[in-house]
Amino acid sequence: MTIADELSRIDTLRKELHRHNHNYYVLNAPEISDFDFDAMMRELEGLEKKHPEHADPNSPTQRVGSDISHSFEQVAHVYPMLSLANTYSVEEVEQWVGRLEQALPGRDVTLVGEMKFDGTGISLIYEYGRLVRAVTRGDGEKGDDVTANVRTIRTIPLQLSGDDYPDFFEIRGEIVLTWSAFDRLNAEREAAGEPLFANPRNAAAGTLKLQNSAEVGRRGLDAYLYYLLGDKLPYATHYENMQAARRWGFKVSDAMTHLGSISDVDAFIKYWDTARKELPVATDGLVFKVDVLQEQLNLGFTAKSPRWAVAYKFRAERALTRLRFVSFDVGRMGIITPVANLEPVLLSGTVVKRASLHNADIMRALDIHSDDMLYVEKGGEIIPKITGVELSERCAGSRPVEFVSHCPACGTPLLRVEGEAAWVCPNKRGCKPQIIGRVEHFVGRRMMNIDGVGEETAARLFEAGMVHDIADLYSLTPEMLMTLEGFARRSAERVVDGIAASREVPFERVVFALSIPYVGETTARKLARAAGSLDRLMDMPLAELEAVEDVGPRIARSIVDYFADEENRRIVERLRDAGLTMECALPDNQNGVSDVLGGKTFVISGVFSLHGRDDYKAMIEAYGGKNTGSISKKTDYILAGENMGPVKLEKAQKLGIPIIDEQTFLSMIGQG
Ligand code: IVH
Repeated sequence: MTIADELSRIDTLRKELHRHNHNYYVLNAPEISDFDFDAMMRELEGLEKKHPEHADPNSPTQRVGSDISHSFEQVAHVYPMLSLANTYSVEEVEQWVGRLEQALPGRDVTLVGEMKFDGTGISLIYEYGRLVRAVTRGDGEKGDDVTANVRTIRTIPLQLSGDDYPDFFEIRGEIVLTWSAFDRLNAEREAAGEPLFANPRNAAAGTLKLQNSAEVGRRGLDAYLYYLLGDKLPYATHYENMQAARRWGFKVSDAMTHLGSISDVDAFIKYWDTARKELPVATDGLVFKVDVLQEQLNLGFTAKSPRWAVAYKFRAERALTRLRFVSFDVGRMGIITPVANLEPVLLSGTVVKRASLHNADIMRALDIHSDDMLYVEKGGEIIPKITGVELSERCAGSRPVEFVSHCPACGTPLLRVEGEAAWVCPNKRGCKPQIIGRVEHFVGRRMMNIDGVGEETAARLFEAGMVHDIADLYSLTPEMLMTLEGFARRSAERVVDGIAASREVPFERVVFALSIPYVGETTARKLARAAGSLDRLMDMPLAELEAVEDVGPRIARSIVDYFADEENRRIVERLRDAGLTMECALPDNQNGVSDVLGGKTFVISGVFSLHGRDDYKAMIEAYGGKNTGSISKKTDYILAGENMGPVKLEKAQKLGIPIIDEQTFLSMIGQG
């Protein structure tokens, strides 16, 4: 093949693969076998590798995502993302229709009924048929630019089909996780000892904000689109526009229906109230919209929501059952969670025996008495909650259930943290569930990633006197493990190998693994980057900690308290002796390496391949430069990766600001 042939083959393959993707993921009607599909994909990958100058972020090969970590840039929405007014009964929907008729006298208002998908809202911007940006709802005015992650969602077209789409438009919809993908994800998390997602909505939202788009791609998000916006829409009605969007390649729900009368609305509600349970994704209600765009325009918006649409919320499934007793769980941070233990009751297909009462305040507000009949709800959540008491069934003489005053595990008097609802057991070193919980956290996949040690093994290691704290793990030998039931040589060696391999885990994950109260994964990463080493983190004063992004007074205080504890310092020293990574691999802000960037202002845009976005931000600061979010006359350089936003590019060119790539930047700081 000549070069020209190869380039035209790249084009053909991209078009064909886009079409087959759409057939497979949106239409559910593949035309070719998976084998042929994979072969075409491999051919395209080969050709793209050969012609890197023809790389395209919208190529079907880019669906797999990348391992580059990127924090998200905030982007203002073109049209604010509002919410919907809620209704809970057919009567309330009828009242809304009555108001529409008053506001639009003499018109026969046609409505469109559709599903209310229970995921996370997304705004997609297309220019000339190509996806250019995907932004989360955020605060409604501005959201996070999650384009790289959204590109991995196979039901979202990167390149549109047909030719009747507007040059510029926005389309909104909901990113969801199917029930089956959700169950799979939670099963994996359970096996890895990680906390489960409560529902597909949280799982979808959490996934969309992951730093690693390859992992996003793996989890299999899906998307339904339901709202087209722009100056030049092809049709005068919402319904026709959505059908057009379907032809362009978007996944638009088949449930979308024209409703000409109130009895149509009633029938729609009645039908979906049960039929929704058969859908592959979670829904929490229905949405009714005025179909004609001109009428929508006449009706307008309130401050919070459109007048031309309402949501009808399904009632969460609810059951009534008797309280057996309230137990109190102790978490790894010593926080006590009250749990209602119930007479088993069937709720949306599963038997419920336990439901969280969250904390002392919520428990008191519910005013639960012994032997009460309680309402349990499970609105698409896997963890059921108690929503109320049936007072008419209360037994005479029953007494309110009291929150415990002493730790149910070790008997230590509980303390209440100032200004918080949580009661805490302060016996950090002697309270078994706390010790086991910390070990379990430490070995988790996103922390030290040590296979083969779950809750049960952690408990047995503790009971056998082998592991009292996280540092003890590094003294384990296969022979010691083999004295425990269930460990043969191979499994024991596997655990010890896993522990040894954890020495390579990067510093930021070590910080997260320590179980410093309030320090979650993101905060741990920011702290690690800011401090650069554990030595420095241990001695950072309050004010300096508070200067770290995302660290407020409460977190800063918690870190100082953690390292003021001699025992914690000893554990850290033992971890250091065991050979764990105690330093950041990259230069950091504090130990500023030099001042070569001398106050120059940078804007970072796009996706990078040599270092992550956060790393570049840290480097800019370490070398004396400044980071800002938006381009202005004051910007000195744009550090651009692949796929820099077109708006930014234009602005930078207009202002004549130099755009530099990674290589150039690295040579500026002497790392080229
Ligand atoms: S229309 C201006 N249609 O529900 C109103 N929203 O509670 C545009 N949602 O923020 C929204 N399914 O994230 C619309 N079929 C549907 C929907 C839907 C789910 C979400 C959306 C919105 C929220 C409002």
